[in-house]
Amino acid sequence: MKIHHVGYLAKNLEKSRNKYVELGFVVERSAKYDEIRKVNIEFLINGDYRVELIEPVDKDSPMYPLLTRYKNTPYHFCYEVDNLDKAITELSDKHYTIMQEPEVAPCIDNDRVVFMYNNSIGIIELVEINA
Ligand code: NI
Repeated sequence: MKIHHVGYLAKNLEKSRNKYVELGFVVERSAKYDEIRKVNIEFLINGDYRVELIEPVDKDSPMYPLLTRYKNTPYHFCYEVDNLDKAITELSDKHYTIMQEPEVAPCIDNDRVVFMYNNSIGIIELVEINA
């Protein structure tokens, strides 16, 4: 599966962005608030590599516990799929479990995403790219 982005948990989005820009990344989509997940999200790009900065802004955010545990760190790869429901079925057969039911991602053109978990690989995200 093609990688869409690497999700990077940021304690302070602006500070993390500035460090990525120093490393040659440019802002692809400026910071936007995702009210479903209570996080600010920004996409940066460097050649074929895309990084998603995720800054939890509320202690109610489902990502907040990860932040207190890991601080600034990459924590998921997101893979592109054509058909989300089919991909979920296939990965369920391969021992991935759904962490959160599929939901639209306001910061990725409202494409549907899902987070899944496997003991040997951790968290992965799937995004259904609308052609
Ligand atoms: Ni992501």
